[in-house]
Amino acid sequence: MRFDILTLFPQMFVGPFQESIIKRAQESGLVDIAIHDIRAYTTDKHRTADDIPYGGGGGMIMKPEPIFRAVADVLGDALAAAPVILLTPQGRPFTQSVARELAEEERLALICGHYEGVDERVRQHLATDEISIGDYVLTGGELPAMVIVDAVARLLPGALGDEAAAEADSYATGLLEHPHYTRPYDFRGWTVPDILLSGHHGEVDRWRREQALRRTWERRPDLLEDADLTEDDRGFLEELRSEPS
Ligand SMILES: C[S@@+](CC[C@H](N)C(=O)[O-])C[C@H]1O[C@@H](n2cnc3c(N)ncnc32)[C@H](O)[C@@H]1O
Repeated sequence: MRFDILTLFPQMFVGPFQESIIKRAQESGLVDIAIHDIRAYTTDKHRTADDIPYGGGGGMIMKPEPIFRAVADVLGDALAAAPVILLTPQGRPFTQSVARELAEEERLALICGHYEGVDERVRQHLATDEISIGDYVLTGGELPAMVIVDAVARLLPGALGDEAAAEADSYATGLLEHPHYTRPYDFRGWTVPDILLSGHHGEVDRWRREQALRRTWERRPDLLEDADLTEDDRGFLEELRSEPS
């Protein structure tokens, strides 16, 4: 999968994509991440990529011409097919299901805004999608682009060492994931639940499922409305609801 990231601050991407799973995914050819400097597509001698807002007010707005030029040059013939995503706090919320949807694409372009944002004509006539990573305002779209690349890339078959681990991740199943423990068995007197040492895979799976249901019910009950639940799950949730608070 190919990611083209358009930014005024290419140096921001230097560290995060050179570590861990994303680094390995690039080395193995599973993902190809290209960072493009929007300023390289300016035409004046001062390399102006932003300007004051029409109508007055503070802050600077990213100009449309360099962004349109950059996207056309970077995507070339792929322009008609590849989604062009504008990162904006006004976009649709980024969730695990949006990550799964994007992981189906062969190629994505991500436009990082900065300052007060980008000229509205980029949103109207160039972007095919607008994504927000949360209900807060960051200084730029660079961190949101990193978040999206990370969440999408780890879903690609072969990106993680253990594919089964991702299948049980929070949100992948519609629930929050069960708790994890590793050695030592006894840490400062806090011991690991004995069921996890029992060797009964069926019982361990049942415990994990019940823990996932309990966690979701306690922390994010809204998720239960859309979760894929079995009769056993529903029975367990009934038990939880009847527990004294
Ligand atoms: C300071 S923000 C501009 C916010 C804009 N004035 C508004 O109120 O909607 C600058 C840039 O950061 C990025 N950005 C900030 N918060 C974001 C979020 N929650 N999700 C995605 N992108 C965000 C966008 O690319 C945006 O153009």
